[in-house]
Amino acid sequence: MSAFLIIIKRFSLCLALASTVVSISTGSSNYSDEASFVQFDNVGYDGRYFHVSKVEALNDDNCSCLQDLDNAVSIDSVNAPYNEELSVHLRGPMNLRKFAWYVADDYTYGSTSGSWTRGAYYDSEEGTADNVTFLGNVGDDNLCLGRALNYVTSNGTALASDSTVLDNITVASAHEYAIYSSKKCSDSSSSSGDCGVYREGIDAYHGFYGTVKAFLFEFYSPTDNSEEDLVNKTSSYDMPAIWLLNAEIPRTAQYPTNGNCSSWNTGAGEFDIFEVMNVTERNHFYSTIHDFQGIDDLGTGIQMFAYLDRTPNSVMKGGIVFGGDGTATVFLSNSTTFDDTLENSDLNSWISSLKNEEGGEVSESLADITLGAEITTTASSAISGASSATGSKGDAVRQTGGSIMASIFAMGALLL
Ligand SMILES: *[C@@H]1O[C@H](CO)[C@@H](O)[C@H](O)[C@H]1NC(C)=O
Ligand SMILES: *[C@@H]1O[C@H](CO)[C@@H](O)[C@H](O)[C@H]1NC(C)=O
Ligand SMILES: *[C@@H]1O[C@H](CO)[C@@H](O)[C@H](O)[C@H]1NC(C)=O
Ligand SMILES: *[C@@H]1O[C@H](CO)[C@@H](O)[C@H](O)[C@H]1NC(C)=O
Ligand SMILES: *[C@@H]1O[C@H](CO)[C@@H](O)[C@H](O)[C@H]1NC(C)=O
Ligand SMILES: *[C@@H]1O[C@H](CO)[C@@H](O)[C@H](O)[C@H]1NC(C)=O
Ligand SMILES: *[C@@H]1O[C@H](CO)[C@@H](O)[C@H](O)[C@H]1NC(C)=O
Ligand SMILES: *[C@@H]1O[C@H](CO)[C@@H](O)[C@H](O)[C@H]1NC(C)=O
Ligand SMILES: *[C@@H]1O[C@H](CO)[C@@H](O)[C@H](O)[C@H]1NC(C)=O
Repeated sequence: MSAFLIIIKRFSLCLALASTVVSISTGSSNYSDEASFVQFDNVGYDGRYFHVSKVEALNDDNCSCLQDLDNAVSIDSVNAPYNEELSVHLRGPMNLRKFAWYVADDYTYGSTSGSWTRGAYYDSEEGTADNVTFLGNVGDDNLCLGRALNYVTSNGTALASDSTVLDNITVASAHEYAIYSSKKCSDSSSSSGDCGVYREGIDAYHGFYGTVKAFLFEFYSPTDNSEEDLVNKTSSYDMPAIWLLNAEIPRTAQYPTNGNCSSWNTGAGEFDIFEVMNVTERNHFYSTIHDFQGIDDLGTGIQMFAYLDRTPNSVMKGGIVFGGDGTATVFLSNSTTFDDTLENSDLNSWISSLKNEEGGEVSESLADITLGAEITTTASSAISGASSATGSKGDAVRQTGGSIMASIFAMGALLL
């Protein structure tokens, strides 16, 4: 205990580790084996990240950004930071047929009573989009911020002047777009506004709230054969993905070259639901959590060592369910429906029947950690230190608080 106190003083960090071990329980699977559904348990931790307090594009293609290191944003509940407002991102080849966001008062994995309410819905066939806004990095360009987040045209890839419903289109490899709610940020960009600080000139919308929430998708992701004969294929060639970001990240900058322009690198949160990681495994969807719950390498993240099958010749249905019990269940099931009410009995039957499918369930429990809000000046600059290359897989800039987290986990090792 005395060693603990000394460490706290030295680093001005308060930390308690119940366990740093990520335990993996697999049915019949090995690492990187097929699963029929995957689940992260114990999602959420006591920690903090830092908002961006200034994001400014400068004329000479330079930019000026600050992270608000004096005012840590505490995160401390179940599913944190994914209990915050999230935006939804899709990368081609991707033909989104249906999308829905649901919330419930509570949900425990496996429960068969209770229901969810649909709060947003898009149906490409009907051409309807309720509480859905399609955005993309299609606006003003700037060397260090990238393009601004603005409305996209009905084909998902060009700048539109108004909110436009996406057609039944297949967005090509390497192209991506975002889904926000249709609730506009009511205040202008400021630390005290309802959307915090955001980049001037963007179409600023709220993400999807909820501690207990679910996102469902019906999508088709046909194989891209256009570059088969090339030795070096375009980055993200035939690597479809669907992922979630803390909604404030793209409002400042999703792919900045200056890490101070995004809260991603301080742990605001990214959850990759279905992601092809490389063209070698182009038909394997992996799930990854990019926050600090038990790891120090934010870029690699907390990986699920099992994949779900991408079926490029048929439409897929499924999604992610965040329970009030800290479970995040990712599944693909042809039984998935998109009604305005989602019954737990149905949800449970879709998921439980997957247990009998090839691979079965693979689950992984996240570490119990508490990461205090206080940091020293030295530690602060470690957090916002040099940035590295932008992520090729759709993540925000690969800049981690490597040194500070390394010290935390060295401390954890000392304590145990
Ligand atoms: C996991 O992989 C190891 C090494 O390849 C193998 O010996 C073992 O049988 C595998 N386990 C299962 C359950 O497939
Ligand atoms: C970007 O702008 C900042 C602040 O005005 C300045 O200090 C820096 O040198 C500029 N960088 C480049 C590459 O122009
Ligand atoms: C949507 O697009 C896909 C792929 O191009 C096509 O197979 C499907 O028939 C289209 N659906 C409708 C309703 O037009
Ligand atoms: C998308 O639509 C825009 C505007 O109509 C057009 O300029 C652009 O070429 C289209 N992109 C693709 C990939 O079809
Ligand atoms: C639309 O989504 C927003 C953002 O999460 C939410 O606040 C709002 O209540 C939703 N609107 C409806 C009508 O459900
Ligand atoms: C492919 O990339 C490798 C490594 O960057 C490079 O050495 C090689 O010349 C490239 N090949 C072609 C055909 O461009
Ligand atoms: C990011 O912010 C830190 C702390 O304010 C500062 O020391 C650093 O130079 C900034 N980095 C860039 C690339 O602007
Ligand atoms: C492709 O990604 C998977 C999942 O991360 C990984 O296991 C595999 O080693 C990668 N393959 C290559 C060639 O990088
Ligand atoms: C869903 O149905 C299609 C055929 O329509 C099949 O190819 C695919 O494997 C099924 N997916 C799952 C997860 O069962």
